[in-house]
Amino acid sequence: MTKHTAEISNGSITVYKGNYDAYMAYKKEHEETLKNSSRNLERKIAQTERFIERFRSKATKASAVQSRVKLCESLKEDLPDLPENIRTIHFSFPLSRQSGGVPVKAERISMSYNDVKIFSGIDLIVARGDKIAITGPNGTGKTTLLKILAQIIQPADGLVTIGHNADIRYFGQHVLEQLSPDKTLFETIADVSGSGDRTFIQNILGAFLFSGDDVLKKTSVLSGGEKSRLALASILSKSGNVLILDEPTNHLDIQSIEILSDALVEFEGTVLFVSHNEYFISRVANRIIEMRPGVFQGFFRHNAAIP
Ligand SMILES: Nc1ncnc2c1ncn2[C@@H]1O[C@H](COP(=O)(O)OP(=O)(O)OP(=O)(O)O)[C@@H](O)[C@H]1O
Ligand SMILES: [Mg+2]
Repeated sequence: MTKHTAEISNGSITVYKGNYDAYMAYKKEHEETLKNSSRNLERKIAQTERFIERFRSKATKASAVQSRVKLCESLKEDLPDLPENIRTIHFSFPLSRQSGGVPVKAERISMSYNDVKIFSGIDLIVARGDKIAITGPNGTGKTTLLKILAQIIQPADGLVTIGHNADIRYFGQHVLEQLSPDKTLFETIADVSGSGDRTFIQNILGAFLFSGDDVLKKTSVLSGGEKSRLALASILSKSGNVLILDEPTNHLDIQSIEILSDALVEFEGTVLFVSHNEYFISRVANRIIEMRPGVFQGFFRHNAAIP
C-alpha cells in the first residue's frame, strides 16, 4: 500500500522510497555491505596492531610505529556502527523427541457455543513436520479449533487423537495475561523450561533479544512487544515436538518476526499456527488452511517441501 517506508531505530529515523518489500530488500543489501566493510576494517586493525606490538620497542622503527598508531586510530573511527539487528544470536529450539507420523488427527469435529454453530464436520490430519497456517476472518473459529486440537477444550462432537510421542506446546492468543508480573525474565524462563542451566536460559533470552541486565527486569514493566517475545521464548524453551501457536506475531516488531520465522522454519517438529500476517505465513507454512463461515479448505504450497 505504501510508497515510502520510515524506520525508527538506533535513535534516528530514516525514510526509504518504496513499499515494505523494497525496504526489506534494500535493508538486507545495506546490512551485508556494512557487515563486509566492518569485517575488512577489523582485519586491517588487527594487522596494524600486530605490527605496533612487534616493533614498539625498536628505535629504528619508531616513526613507522608512530604512523601505524595514527592509522589504527583512524581505522577505528571508520568502523561502522552496526545496527542492533545485525548482531542477532542464532539459537535453535530443542525437539523433545521424534513424534509419530501423525501427531494430531481430528475427525468430524464440530463446535457450538450456546447452540450457535461455529463449525462442523472438520477433518484434519496433521503429519509430522507439517507447518500448517490457519487463516480466515475474525470470529470464524480459528482459536476455538486450536484449543480443541491442543485439548484445552472439548469439541461438541467428533474425535481428536493425539499421536504417539507427541509433545504439544500451546501458545494462546491471550497468553500475555498469564505472565507472572512479579517474576523476572530469567525466572520466567527458568520456571517454564524447568532448567537450571544459566547459559541455556540466557541463550534463549538472547535469541529473543533480551540481554545483560534486561533479564533481571520484572515482567510487569515490559512493553507489549517485549511481553510477546518473552511469552514466545518461554513456550519455545520447553522442548516439545508439536507447536500450536495462536497469532504468535501479535505485537512483535519486524525483527522479532524474522527471528520467530527463522526459528520455526528450522524447527524439526510440527507447527500449527493461526496468523493474519501474510509475510509470516509465506515464510513458514507448507500448508495453508482457510476458514470461512461454512468452509474449511486446505492448500498445499507448491514451492515447499512436503514430507
Ligand atoms: N466461550 C464462548 N462462549 C460463547 N461464544 C464464544 C466463546 N468462545 C468463542 N465464542 C465465539 O465463537 C466464535 C469463534 O471465536 P474464535 O475465538 O474461535 O474466533 P477466531 O477465528 O479465533 O477469531 P480471531 O481472528 O478474531 O481471533 C466467535 O464468534 C466468538 O464470539
Ligand atoms: Mg483467534
